Amino acid sequence: MQEYLVGKFSELPEGKGVAVEAGRSTVAVFKIGSEVFAISNACPHKGASLCEGEVVCESKIVRCPWHHWNWRLDDGALEPDTRQHLRQYNVFVDGDDVILRL
Ligand code: FES
Repeated sequence: MQEYLVGKFSELPEGKGVAVEAGRSTVAVFKIGSEVFAISNACPHKGASLCEGEVVCESKIVRCPWHHWNWRLDDGALEPDTRQHLRQYNVFVDGDDVILRL
């Protein structure tokens, strides 16, 4: 298991994705209110960069920038077909540090 420093929680943009290189993975990290979420940056459909997607903060959804599929940030499910999921990663806040754990 390895940890990566994403950045300062206080400096992360609200409701916008940030791409983080973590080993051989690119992870999209999102801050909504007091929460942070980490998902695979590659959309499972055709591989668009999800950190460039529009975030709907109220419903904690990122909308893929290519074909507008809606992915839930809290459980990685596709909305409304929740049988499909994208990969989620463990991310947490320690003081003001946002840490990604793979
Ligand atoms: S690449 Fe994301 S919905 Fe098509």
